[in-house]
Amino acid sequence: MQKTALATLIVAASSLWLTACLDSSSSSSDKTVTPPGETAPATRVLVKPYLQNPTDDAISVIWFTDTQVPGELVVEGVGRFASTPELVEALGYGDSEIAYIHGEKNMGDIHAEVADGQAPALPYRHLVRVEGLSAATRYDYEVRQPGSETAMTAQFTTAPAIGERASVRFLAMSDMETEPESTGKTVAWGASAAAGGGDKLATDTATYDRQYPVDQTTGYRANIQYAMERQPDFWLIAGDLVEKGGRQLDWDEFWRHAAGEWSDFASRTPIFPALGNHENYWHPEGGSYSPPAVMRSYDKWNSYWELPRNYGTDERYEKRYYRVDYGPVTLITLDSSNGDDSDPLKDTNLAIDGVQSRVPDFNRGSEQWNWAASELADAQARGQVIFVQFHHTPFGTGVHSLPSGSAGIASNEDSQSGQPMRIYHELFERYGVTAVLAGHDELLEYVEIDGVHYWDVGFAGDGLRGPGYAPTTDYVPFDQLPAQAQASHWSAHGDAPEIWNGNQLIDGGKHYGFLEVEVRPSDGQDYEVVMTPRYAFPLMDEQGAATGEFAHRQYNKVVRVAVER
Ligand SMILES: [Fe+2]
Ligand SMILES: [Fe+2]
Repeated sequence: MQKTALATLIVAASSLWLTACLDSSSSSSDKTVTPPGETAPATRVLVKPYLQNPTDDAISVIWFTDTQVPGELVVEGVGRFASTPELVEALGYGDSEIAYIHGEKNMGDIHAEVADGQAPALPYRHLVRVEGLSAATRYDYEVRQPGSETAMTAQFTTAPAIGERASVRFLAMSDMETEPESTGKTVAWGASAAAGGGDKLATDTATYDRQYPVDQTTGYRANIQYAMERQPDFWLIAGDLVEKGGRQLDWDEFWRHAAGEWSDFASRTPIFPALGNHENYWHPEGGSYSPPAVMRSYDKWNSYWELPRNYGTDERYEKRYYRVDYGPVTLITLDSSNGDDSDPLKDTNLAIDGVQSRVPDFNRGSEQWNWAASELADAQARGQVIFVQFHHTPFGTGVHSLPSGSAGIASNEDSQSGQPMRIYHELFERYGVTAVLAGHDELLEYVEIDGVHYWDVGFAGDGLRGPGYAPTTDYVPFDQLPAQAQASHWSAHGDAPEIWNGNQLIDGGKHYGFLEVEVRPSDGQDYEVVMTPRYAFPLMDEQGAATGEFAHRQYNKVVRVAVER
């Protein structure tokens, strides 16, 4: 009874304040966000400010609150910009999600602030695009949100001019698959058989049931801490950001890590995301990859990102594939979610109906393929250093690198195979793509074919897998790789054997991490590209228990490429 009365009072106060605020802003061009003498209603910042769509003269800052109170972005030396909050209904919750947060097993203690039986508030989005900035310049900024005490200061940096011979450093990772259930839950951690004299593609049978020493939330948090220390210009996420793209709790968990209580990495580092299968997945009223599930997931995706346009024939193709130019670097992001539904050999997800769900095909002759070919040709003609990201690794050895088909994993076929994306190799070779960043197999894995360097960077914070799908099947699709890929193959599973001192791991093995990519001008018009896989190593005591401390390390696999222009 008391609670209801209080809620009514807050709503009444809030609408009074809003009226006052709107009146003042319409009567004055120099907007004051908080009218003198008024106090803004208590406002929670649901997602802290994060950066999007940087160019050489502009950048966007986005944040979310639980009230419609306008905030203000202050960019030092540039000016003050009021926000216009917009209610985003796509970011709502299903009944099962509301039940979860009030249940006994709310693993991540997410939304503990919400009163019994209530749903978390629908969010308001604040999006401010700042223009007229100088290229390659760092700015301090602050978001002031009336009604909130949350401190929100950070820096952003604009891109160098397109084609400028500047150094650029970025990070790539994927498959963090955030969900509140990741707290307290560890993943299987099978070791390579190489250390015991076995095959590097095999799994040591004694480690089939072994679990990683820290849970997924702890591992991903440690990974982000390391990533922040590297101060990259931008942050690629090659898909599977969240466990369920249609589940709001999983997106809330994503932002706790990226721009919330656990870090402000995205407040200082723009994210360029690619959709994974998980961003097409789940509906609270049922259906995993059903059209309503895919559409709901996309609506959430669309609400969070602001990305360059592709001008596709369907507005729902926007933000699924796009091009970014950042100084000497061109990044092409593709959507590998769904191919040709009539032919499993040309499809990466046999459950998605691309027409009903309005997901673009990627095959030869499709709108997306033609777009990619033309953008790659243009980037090459301008002498750019080209990178491509998409979710489904095309040349891997994990479960999703099994041949595409519906016979089941035990019969060595996968219904979400990355193999159909191999058709793009022809374009990547022709247009001089330096590296392809993908995930989905959740190994840290590398191959080189015809000068194109392929990475699976799916080791951000979920699975730490090895080849094949041990112990369900001992088939490893290594023999499906082209000869050059077999010759150049490297993986954390097989090529970084664990080194133990009794029960204590000293070094080696599979851990959570990211790939760092540095692009540096070298002689003449050339560039040097250095790619370094890095990982957060969980320190152990002599009994083998994680101490909670992490060492920041790199794998002994640094790939240096001379890019001639
Ligand atoms: Fe994944
Ligand atoms: Fe995936």
